Amino acid sequence: MSGLLDGRVAVVTGAGRGIGRATAVLLAGHGARVVCADIDGEALKGTVELLDGLGTAVATDLTEPAAPAEVVARTVDEHGQLDIVVNNAGYTWDGIFHKMSDEQLSAMLDIHLVVPFRLLRAAAPVLREAAKRDAAEGREIFRKVVNVTSIAGTMGNVGQANYAAAKSALVGLTKTLAKEWGPLKINVNAVAFGFVETRLTADADEGGAFAHGDRRIPLGIPGAVRERAAAGIPLGRPATPAEAAGGIFLLCTPWSNFVHGQVLTVAGGQAEGMS
Ligand SMILES: NC(=O)c1ccc[n+]([C@@H]2O[C@H](COP(=O)([O-])OP(=O)(O)OC[C@H]3O[C@@H](n4cnc5c(N)ncnc54)[C@H](O)[C@@H]3O)[C@@H](O)[C@H]2O)c1
Repeated sequence: MSGLLDGRVAVVTGAGRGIGRATAVLLAGHGARVVCADIDGEALKGTVELLDGLGTAVATDLTEPAAPAEVVARTVDEHGQLDIVVNNAGYTWDGIFHKMSDEQLSAMLDIHLVVPFRLLRAAAPVLREAAKRDAAEGREIFRKVVNVTSIAGTMGNVGQANYAAAKSALVGLTKTLAKEWGPLKINVNAVAFGFVETRLTADADEGGAFAHGDRRIPLGIPGAVRERAAAGIPLGRPATPAEAAGGIFLLCTPWSNFVHGQVLTVAGGQAEGMS
């Protein structure tokens, strides 16, 4: 059976669960081979089992300085090419601004800005060489970068000054690379999610946490805030991870070849905040 993404090779970060896993499933379901990177090796195994032999797991803490380049090297070693990069790995470390620590700020900048920066810088020679080869041989093939941001980054969100600043910085990176890489036919776009049902947005009372080094960072949001947030969505409920992945997938297919340097809001119409 032929798929829309047959012959394509993708890297998806944070593919162990949530939106990243759903994205890997969708990309592989349309024929792409998918290199799945996540800090959580056990969760990654579960993802790769869903990919019908098209997935590879790379268990790594992407905030380690060498890790993003290792993911790219592994992809090229195994598949000889790289066509799609989805920068999705992330978490939240919320707090009210006047009590926010330097560590909270730098952790968010690390995972949401520095990691995508390093991954794309490592991917640059691979993407650029392929584009130059295509041009020399008279082919026009579009490659794809999708950076996952948030409406917290585009509209602000109480308790998320660190996260919003980092996600907003990722928009600046997206738009700049769109200008630099447009001539190479590398589409660079971002997706800004609103409320998606994952462990990041689960009820805080469920006790979810992100383990990073010695730290255990509590995840989730208070039940009352969850209810208010859902009520503010014109579609009436949060997105499923699969619905969120749909927004990323659109930007990975040939049907978005002329969509470039954009931030696609996938939020069920939610428009609270300052745009
Ligand atoms: N859930 C939402 O409502 C929402 C809204 C806006 C944006 N987002 C963004 O979507 C992306 C995916 O989030 P999700 O909701 O699916 O969360 P999730 O917790 O379900 O999945 C995120 C994955 O990223 C991985 N990860 C985090 N830090 C890592 C690191 N240092 N190295 C390797 N892997 C790491 C985690 O292990 C996890 O498997 C994030 O960037 C998040 O900020 C989510």
